[in-house]
Amino acid sequence: MLPIVDRPAIQWVVEEAARAGAREIFVIVDPGVGVLIERHFNSQEEGPLAGLEHVNVHPIVQDVPRGLGDAVRTAATAVGNQPFFTLLVDNLVFPDGDVLPGMAAAAEAGSVVCLRELGTEFLARYGFIVPGEWRNEQVVEVLGAIEKPGVEAAPSKLGLIGRYLFTGKIFEALDHVEPGVGGEIQLTDAIHTVGEAGNCLGYVAADDLLDSGTPSGYLEASTILGAAHPDFGARYRAFVTEFTEGL
Ligand code: G1P
Repeated sequence: MLPIVDRPAIQWVVEEAARAGAREIFVIVDPGVGVLIERHFNSQEEGPLAGLEHVNVHPIVQDVPRGLGDAVRTAATAVGNQPFFTLLVDNLVFPDGDVLPGMAAAAEAGSVVCLRELGTEFLARYGFIVPGEWRNEQVVEVLGAIEKPGVEAAPSKLGLIGRYLFTGKIFEALDHVEPGVGGEIQLTDAIHTVGEAGNCLGYVAADDLLDSGTPSGYLEASTILGAAHPDFGARYRAFVTEFTEGL
């Protein structure tokens, strides 16, 4: 619910999903947070979804924080056996930088994970894939994945940037994932399983995603999204120019 510019981070992500055609959106939350999500999205007459007809937002509580893989598994019953997008709220797309349509277009029968070539400073912070054959310039087979491998164990520079298109096979894989890095059920370990079984492709996004999960990334995300805002972006850009010239 952390605000970025004029709306909570979760709303940026819900709007992105809605632009890609999502109609039922499940938000995995800590206990006690569901009521905030309900109140924000569903209880206002002219609420934040006013421009997004036919979008339903439902909180689902993850009772204990056992990791990202466990959070995804929490949605298994609600999602059922159909393909679904997973979006991490720390990672936000640049204005005009949507990746979900490209991922859907790349999909064959299995899952698709969104990738970028990342610098070494990310190797201990993100998950990285084991690439196989390239289908075209942007689409590569994913043979496996390692969470936060560090420089020594890095299988490639292709990092998982918080956007996924999964089939129900991810839930089967998650059922067998043991606690991994940080003692958590890692989504990346389930991606490894579906990749090994030949059921995963990687889609290399044309743009980076913003990472609002660090203080400096949060500031950058606020500046980039603020500067592109239709109502006050021009004013803000002028302010930033004036401010930086004075530094
Ligand atoms: C999570 C995932 C990681 C991914 C990253 C992207 O890490 O586990 O594979 O690369 O998000 O932001 P976390 O931010 O939870 O440490």
